[in-house]
Amino acid sequence: MTTAPNNIKTVSTQPIDGQKPGTSGLRKQVPVFQQPNYLENFVQAIFNSLDGYAGHTLVVGGDGRYYNRQALQIILKMAAANGFGKVLVGQAGILATPAASCVIRKYNAFGGIVLSASHNPGGPDGDFGIKYNVSNGGPAPEKVTDDIYSHTQNITEYKILEANDIDLDRLGSTQLGEMTVEVIDSVDDYAELMASLFDFDQIKTLLTSGNFRMCMDSMHAVTGPYAKRIFEGLLGAPAGTVMNGTPLEDFGKGHPDPNLVYAHDLVEILFAKDAPDFGAASDGDGDRNMILGNNFFVTPSDSLAVIAANAHLVKGYKGGLAGIARSMPTSQAPDLVAKKLGIECFETPTGWKFFGNLLDAGKATLCGEESFGTGSNHVREKDGLWAVLFWLNIIAVRGQSVEEILKEHWQTYGRNVYSRHDYEAVNAEKASKLMEQLRGALGTLPGRTFGNYEVQYADDFSYTDPIDGSISNRQGVRIGFKDGSRMVFRLSGTGTQGATLRLYLESYEADTSKHGEDPQVALGELIAIADEIAGVREYTGMDKPTVIT
Ligand code: G6P
Ligand code: ZN
Repeated sequence: MTTAPNNIKTVSTQPIDGQKPGTSGLRKQVPVFQQPNYLENFVQAIFNSLDGYAGHTLVVGGDGRYYNRQALQIILKMAAANGFGKVLVGQAGILATPAASCVIRKYNAFGGIVLSASHNPGGPDGDFGIKYNVSNGGPAPEKVTDDIYSHTQNITEYKILEANDIDLDRLGSTQLGEMTVEVIDSVDDYAELMASLFDFDQIKTLLTSGNFRMCMDSMHAVTGPYAKRIFEGLLGAPAGTVMNGTPLEDFGKGHPDPNLVYAHDLVEILFAKDAPDFGAASDGDGDRNMILGNNFFVTPSDSLAVIAANAHLVKGYKGGLAGIARSMPTSQAPDLVAKKLGIECFETPTGWKFFGNLLDAGKATLCGEESFGTGSNHVREKDGLWAVLFWLNIIAVRGQSVEEILKEHWQTYGRNVYSRHDYEAVNAEKASKLMEQLRGALGTLPGRTFGNYEVQYADDFSYTDPIDGSISNRQGVRIGFKDGSRMVFRLSGTGTQGATLRLYLESYEADTSKHGEDPQVALGELIAIADEIAGVREYTGMDKPTVIT
């Protein structure tokens, strides 16, 4: 170790195995991150992979999970030692992922580091994560994360400033060596952006009318302060509208993933007899969302389709949409809206980073994924509260309930009946065997008939980015049937224990009289066919999925 006169320490280190970023950054259990040099190596690898940042601004913040504050102090001191000019950090270390994206863009920062394991549980034995976002505010594309990974494999030293910790709770600027640290209000810039996109007066009229009740579940995670300021503050909703609104290091021991299984507190309220009119939840770092009506669940795929079909009613999108983009396993409901609007609908691999180029090139305005992610070109991340505000704005203009809006939508476009079955914590070897045998059988499937369904195509999704021509192979097995139904198999890129097999099922129903059917019933035959084709029960050793959404 050497310490220069300006207190910059250069520490010798060695590569640590397994620092390969997944779908959304490097995610591991907290004790892994707490190993000596683990975080430092990865942060130095990020900096080593960057060119020309000297004197520029870095944005940092996280979802407030366990180890957030300690990690931030290390990152600040390393940023100072590596020559950044300034760091903008959210107060108390808090920045929701979409807010970080907003701040990076607004202040023309060089990039940002977001500390989060998204919807994975937190706490001393929970997960922690770190990801790098580039100057457009979006997740680093694969060539950048590959480069970071190769730096982790060759690292020999890292640089850190020897200095006292920064007070992250006090707003304002402090000097850290040659670098300025500015602690910023975590909510201000984001709230201002939302007010520019949505009709706050109209939403306020709805929320204060006395005939409309909403319930927002922040799941003890990062959106608490944002939701309280926006809904209860700026939009006048009664105090208590936001539940679980204080970010906790362990998310109250919950699993901050806004779906029907993990957001059970909210689901209970919205599916009760005297349920409110509208319910929403967001995840650990605030980029995912779930939308509920009174006794009604909106699938994320339908949510994107409804948002697209109604965008002309909303201030920030009145000028029309350039295009829509959805991830491959997302249902084809948005495609039908795009067709009617005469715009393109792009199909990308799973992962928000694939939308970045389309958004930057002005080819897509709205994007969404079945994994409870929706967003637009206002930032370069998916955005949970943005989706909630979009829905409130649509409801305020149309004066209809969530269910009425959906039913009308299905009447116009038909219903893409959809469900995702997750098999979690599967033996990783068996899960990859399942995928391999499926890949091996692809050529034999077209033309084969299973019950009422004849296979039209079977492939392993490959994507060529229309902007930079980069190719991403092996993105999931798709089996399409003659009647337009589809099933998709892929392994999760975000789990930290064993493997998670995801099976996505979709069928198309034009007949309005059948739109009320339970998707598990409507998709029953396809579910059985999936098992027949892929041996799901055999390979996973499970009789049924762990999570159905
Ligand atoms: C993260 C990414 C999303 C992606 C999701 C998929 O949330 O930000 O863009 O859709 O992971 O996760 P999976 O576990 O299916 O790979
Ligand atoms: Zn997230």
